[in-house]
Amino acid sequence: MKVLITGASGMLGHRLAIEAAKKDFGVFVAYHHRPIKIKGCFSLPLEITSIKKIEEAFKKIKPQAVVHTAALTNVDYCEENPKEAFKVNAEGTKNLCQVCLERNIKVVYISTDFVFDGEKGMYSEDDLPNPLSVYGLSKLEGEKAVEKLPDFLILRCTIYGWHLNNQKSIPEWVIANLSSGQPVKAFTDRIITPTYTGFLSGLILKSLDRNLSGIFHIGSHEPLTVYEFALKTAEVFSLDKSRVNPGKMSEIKLKAKRPKNSSLNPTKIQKALNIIIPTVEENLLQMKKERELAKKWIN
Ligand SMILES: NC(=O)c1ccc[n+]([C@@H]2O[C@H](COP(=O)([O-])OP(=O)(O)OC[C@H]3O[C@@H](n4cnc5c(N)ncnc54)[C@H](OP(=O)(O)O)[C@@H]3O)[C@@H](O)[C@H]2O)c1
Repeated sequence: MKVLITGASGMLGHRLAIEAAKKDFGVFVAYHHRPIKIKGCFSLPLEITSIKKIEEAFKKIKPQAVVHTAALTNVDYCEENPKEAFKVNAEGTKNLCQVCLERNIKVVYISTDFVFDGEKGMYSEDDLPNPLSVYGLSKLEGEKAVEKLPDFLILRCTIYGWHLNNQKSIPEWVIANLSSGQPVKAFTDRIITPTYTGFLSGLILKSLDRNLSGIFHIGSHEPLTVYEFALKTAEVFSLDKSRVNPGKMSEIKLKAKRPKNSSLNPTKIQKALNIIIPTVEENLLQMKKERELAKKWIN
C-alpha cells in the first residue's frame, strides 16, 4: 500500500515513517519547513493550507492512504495565534480531506485528548468533546472534516517520544533537566494516559492493515498524573528521582487551559485490533531502547 505521512519531520511522523519503511509499505514522507530524508521513503515538501499544493503532490505520488499527523501542536502558541491554529489544524485538514474525497483515499487522523474538558476522565469514544483551548477546538474542527469522508480513522491520544528538533515531550524534558542536574516541577493536578510514539506507530500500521474505521482512543490502562509520569521516567532512565518536585497548574501562568483529567479509555481499540496495551513502564522502556533509532534511519 502507498501511504503518505504528513508531518513526517515531527515527533510522531518520523517514528511512524521508520516503522512503515520497515514493513511492506510504499512510504511518502511530507514535511513543511524542516526537510527530512528517511531510508526507504520518498520525501516531499507539503503545505496543507494550500489545496493546490496538495493536489499537485497527490497527482505525482498517488497515495492510497494518508496518515495525517501534521499540525500546530504547541498548545500555548495556538492559544496566542488562533487564526494560524485554525488555518493549519482545521482548514489544512479540510483541504486534505477534500482532495482525499475526490480520489477515494482513506484518511487516518491523529487527534488528541485536548478535545475533552477533563472533568470526567477515562473518556470513551461515546463521550462528548468539549475543548478548553484553541488547540483542542482546532483539532476537533479537523475531526469534523475527517468524519465526513466515507472511510476514515480518528485516533485520539496523548503522546510522547523523541523529537528531531528542540521541542520536548514530557520524558524528554525530564531527561534533559535531570541529566544536567536541574530539578523538574511536574503537575499533580493533571491526569493523562500517555502513549509512546513507537507503540502508536505499530498500532497505526496494524489499523491500516486491518482497514479499521471510526473513532478510537489510545492510552495506557493506568491513568497517572504528570508528576507520577515524571517520576516513572526518572526511574526507567536511572535518573535522580529526588529532583522531581510536585507542582500545580494553578501555580504557573499558562496561556492555554489544560484539561484536569483527559485520560482516555483504550478498551475499544484493544478489542478491535486484539492487542495488549503496554504499561506506562513498558512504553518508557521501549523509548529508552529507541534513543538512537533516528540516527540509523535518517540521512
Ligand atoms: N505532541 C503531543 O503531545 C500530542 C498529543 C496528542 C495528539 N497529538 C497529535 O499528534 C500529531 C503529531 O504530533 P507531533 O507532536 O508529532 O507534532 P510535531 O512534532 O509538532 O510536528 C508537527 C508536524 O506538522 C508539520 N506542519 C506544521 N504546519 C504545517 C503546514 N502548514 N503544512 C504541512 N505540515 C505542517 C511540521 O512540519 P515542519 O516541522 O517540517 O515545519 C511537523 O512535521 C498532531 O496531529 C497532534 O495534534 C500530539
